[in-house]
Amino acid sequence: MSIIADDNDYKKVDINAKNPVIKPEAAEYDRNFENSIRPKSFDTYIGQSALKEALKITIEAAKKREKPLDHLLFYGPPGLGKTTLAGVIAEQMGVEIKITSAPALERPRDIIGILMSLKGGEILFIDEIHRLNKVAEEILYPAMEDFYLDMTTGKSQTVKTLRIPLPKFTLIGATTKAGELSGPLRDRFGIIHRLEFYTEEELSQVIKRTAGILEVEITDDGARAIARRSRGTPRIANRLIKRVSDYALVKFDGTINEKIANLALDVLSIDEYGLDSTDRGLLTAIIEKYDGGPVGIETLAAALGEDSRTLEDVCEPFLLQAGLLQRTPRGRKATPAAYRHLGYRNSTEQQNLF
Ligand code: ADE
Repeated sequence: MSIIADDNDYKKVDINAKNPVIKPEAAEYDRNFENSIRPKSFDTYIGQSALKEALKITIEAAKKREKPLDHLLFYGPPGLGKTTLAGVIAEQMGVEIKITSAPALERPRDIIGILMSLKGGEILFIDEIHRLNKVAEEILYPAMEDFYLDMTTGKSQTVKTLRIPLPKFTLIGATTKAGELSGPLRDRFGIIHRLEFYTEEELSQVIKRTAGILEVEITDDGARAIARRSRGTPRIANRLIKRVSDYALVKFDGTINEKIANLALDVLSIDEYGLDSTDRGLLTAIIEKYDGGPVGIETLAAALGEDSRTLEDVCEPFLLQAGLLQRTPRGRKATPAAYRHLGYRNSTEQQNLF
């Protein structure tokens, strides 16, 4: 589970060699691809500049004190680089990182096992930490605060508690939903940072860096055209560059320029805001089926045949940020901008212009 590697290692990763002819299961393929292009240092990590500066100071101070870092919590929409940043921190501290996610820590022995496997100074990264169950949380509290585990043995009258010391480690938690973290867990993180959506310029840089690793030719305009439709999210930008590169190779000579990028993105049904058919389906359902809202997320999910968590975690953050969706106490509403974007005249006159 170690993700420590040298930046030069990327050059050695041959995605095609690892995944020949037969297309592997998509999620697995995405993970391999993501890992192969992850930046490993602050110098190659693009964007989040204020956060990077703050982290560099924190790391420097911990090194001077010769102590592990305080526990850190990263929150923000998916795909902005929380796991990547944790890997960069480990690299910078010169320690190993063990990566897991809350749904994988279902039984007490899962979290106990991973805590007991840690060595001094190491980093434990728990993704989706808001999904940790109560028992796992209770185990984590003394481990985070005083570096010990309380284990009980025996039954009722003969029950004994064993206090097992743990090495001093750093927990890095990541969540898309900071609000769903319990108060006691949140309070145990010394450092809490929010990751922001990326600017078009930052995404262009990410795209050009990834193109370099994949040995794909891309012009500045081509990178910007993909960046414009990547919803402020490097994970999306990196996925799109692969798809656009396929298109450029099959239909043209392989080089991505602005015209080819736009053609390919149109074929992929990614519109000029970066919305895909699921995003547009969500907004269209609110407008056409629920009179623009408000409508509850579960009702919407059922109407769309989608998982409500996917809608909430993946689609909504960007729609909210782009001003296309509003969250109200009574449910979701489409904004006037959503009506305009989808070609409706206004929120009372639901006639599609196209
Ligand atoms: N790939 C994904 N996120 C990245 C980032 N922040 N910088 C560079 N490449 C990336």
